[in-house]
Amino acid sequence: MLDRTDVRIFWQSLRAWGPREAVIDFTHYYRAKRHERADRFDERFGTETSRMVGIGSLDGLGANGADAIHYWPTRECEFTATLDALGDIDHSGFTFVDLGCGKGRVVLLAAAHPFRRAVGVDFSPALVQVAQENVTRYTGPVRARAVEFEACDAAEWVVPDGDLVIYMFNPFGPQVLTRVLANLVSAVRARPRKLYLLYYSPEYPELVLAAGFLSLVEGSGQNWGWAVYTWD
Ligand SMILES: C[S@@+](CC[C@H](N)C(=O)[O-])C[C@H]1O[C@@H](n2cnc3c(N)ncnc32)[C@H](O)[C@@H]1O
Repeated sequence: MLDRTDVRIFWQSLRAWGPREAVIDFTHYYRAKRHERADRFDERFGTETSRMVGIGSLDGLGANGADAIHYWPTRECEFTATLDALGDIDHSGFTFVDLGCGKGRVVLLAAAHPFRRAVGVDFSPALVQVAQENVTRYTGPVRARAVEFEACDAAEWVVPDGDLVIYMFNPFGPQVLTRVLANLVSAVRARPRKLYLLYYSPEYPELVLAAGFLSLVEGSGQNWGWAVYTWD
């Protein structure tokens, strides 16, 4: 049976992207919802990350709300496979950032590794507040030296210094993605360092390559594919 959130998400997709995209999107959404029930992430870790939120239900997003994807989380098994693709890196030298972090699940999972910092960025203040509450409730392992969330549009986000692992679960469309990639490129040009980009459900891989990133490895995933890029 469909609930009110399901119907709202379908209507929001229909208004934003038209009937064909709305049906495809809703099929993915419904499958993801089934997996959330089976994985029981929140029951296992004391958090609230599973409930999906339609982008049209969020306030204070600004103009880029029109180029944004609804909140739903990455499955734990999918994130683990994507991060593992980096191989044997020294986590302590890197800051991990989830651009479009929503309720913070991926940041919490990344924090199981000894990253210098695990950071989540989302333009919805309401989702960032849930993410901050989730940090205090989370019962999983935390080895990162700091776990932080910022309420900020990814297109306006100031790229921090140091080596970076950037994660994105297809959070935004081509306009915002182009600006995010340009900001990353100018940051690494200004201060050369290691940069890995993990793109889960990569809808616009051509934009990443056009920005000058090199493709390292791709995987098919259980739900969606993923791609890992680097900057050289
Ligand atoms: C598909 S969800 C991914 C959530 C999380 N990264 C995960 O994998 O569990 C996409 C998220 O991107 C956020 N988002 C979309 N456009 C954004 C933007 N311009 N700046 C920051 N966050 C954005 C949405 O609010 C939503 O929480």
